[in-house]
Parts: sequence; structure tokens; C-alpha cells
Amino acid sequence: MEVVVSHTPEETARRAATAVLAGLPSGTGRQPVLGLATGSSPLGLYQELGRAVASGRADFSAAHGVALDEYVGLPPGHPEGYRQVLLRDVCGLLGLAAERLAVPDGSGRDLPALTAAARAFEERVTALGGVDVQVLGIGANGHLGFNEPGSALTSRTRVKRLSERTRRDNARFFARPEDVPTHCLTQGLGTILEARRLVLVATGDTKSDAVAAALEGPLTASVPASVLQWHPDTVVCLDEAAAAGLRNRQYYDEAASGLTG
Ligand code: F6R
Repeated sequence: MEVVVSHTPEETARRAATAVLAGLPSGTGRQPVLGLATGSSPLGLYQELGRAVASGRADFSAAHGVALDEYVGLPPGHPEGYRQVLLRDVCGLLGLAAERLAVPDGSGRDLPALTAAARAFEERVTALGGVDVQVLGIGANGHLGFNEPGSALTSRTRVKRLSERTRRDNARFFARPEDVPTHCLTQGLGTILEARRLVLVATGDTKSDAVAAALEGPLTASVPASVLQWHPDTVVCLDEAAAAGLRNRQYYDEAASGLTG
């Protein structure tokens, strides 16, 4: 696991964009598959990727995007549905066509329909050859995707109940707190672990406890993001505030300075 701590959120976004671009296949003839988190954390990273496209350093026109999760029960086209969010905030920036974006379908009205949608999503990801780089944020309660504390470490894409903490944290995107859906479809922790590279972005002091528990605590379902420790190619990009609870900080800085450091 590589932990990169930057002084500002902007520098964090730049480092994360570099880690994403380095993890995508190039010159192999394979179409890149980029896993996309929503929320505030990766917005700067997406802006950086957009700048790389604009300056010709990156090209996502042949890439596929794969969402990390989707709310259940929002009306089709709701602006806070993650398909809409990704189309609005990411696909335009990257030049990624809408038909190349795979999002779990949260419109099913009962568990069998949603379970079938989860399976169809997993099959689509498999047909694409898996995710090359999965972008991730972390919840203040340690969730990864919407795998809330207690999620099985081997879980697959499925329906999950959102915790009240998560609903409160996401209420800023909705007119009223009660409008935040109670359920979602989320890639499971086992699904996320199959991506070839994971890039997690966290900024701000509200994330410092979760970051410290995930990176330096035990591997446990109580802190779903602790599965990052199990993955052979994880890059964690933090600002100073999010890194404040890390005990091994000096080592991370030394390691990030490279072979000559
Ligand atoms: C988003 C997602 C969540 C968020 C997390 C952090 O698709 O799955 O895990 O990454 O809730 O959200 P922000 O970045 O808004 O603090």
C-alpha cells in the first residue's frame, strides 16, 4: 500500500490523477475500465483527469466507466441518482460516452429485481474484463462504496441498507434529510478487491479517524475500508488533515520519496 500525503486538497487530487493514469492500460489494445466513485472526495481528481484530456495527456474516448454504487428508489433521471451525477460531473469532463458507463440499476421495486440488477452489473463488469483502476472515497464511518460496517469482506454487488450516519452525511445533496434513500446497490468488498488498482482519496479532518482505522487498524468488517490492506496495489492519497491520525506517517513520507529517498 502506498500512502501519499500532500499539503493541500489540490495537490492530493493531482497525485491521485497521476496514480489513476499510471494504472490504466496503454498500448495493449485493451479498452481501459475506470471504476468511478461519487461524492465530494474524487471531484478534484476528476477535474485533474479532465485537464489531462484537454491537454492531450489522456484519452478516455475508448474507455469504459463503472460506477461504485447507486441509490435504490430514486425516480429515473433524479439529479442525485449516481448515473446522473456521473454523467454530469465525470463523463463530460473525460469525454466518456454515456453508453460506456455501467451503473447498477436501482430502479427495481423488490429484492428479486434488485438482486437481478446486481448480478447483471457484475456480469457487465466481467464482460469488460474487470476494472483497471477503481477510484474510491471513504465514509466517516469507514465505509467503502456503500459497504457499511459489518459488510462481509468477500461480498459482491448487492442491496445494502444505508447507515443513518451515511444518510446524514449525504443529506447535503437532497432538499430534505428524509429524501435520502434508505437503500442502495453497491459493489461488494470482494468486487472492489478484484480491481487491478485501487486509488482512494480522502481530505479533511472528518475523515482522519476512518483513515487511521482503515490503514493501520485490524482488517475487520467493522471498518470495511480496512480491506485496502488486503489489496496488492492500493494508492491512498490524503491531505494533511485526513492523515492526522496516522502513526506511521514518517515512514509513508520516506517511502513516497522513492528509491533515492
Ligand atoms: C460514493 C461512495 C462512498 C463515498 C463516501 C465518501 O460512490 O461509494 O463510499 O466515497 O461516502 O463520500 P464523500 O467523498 O462525499 O465524503
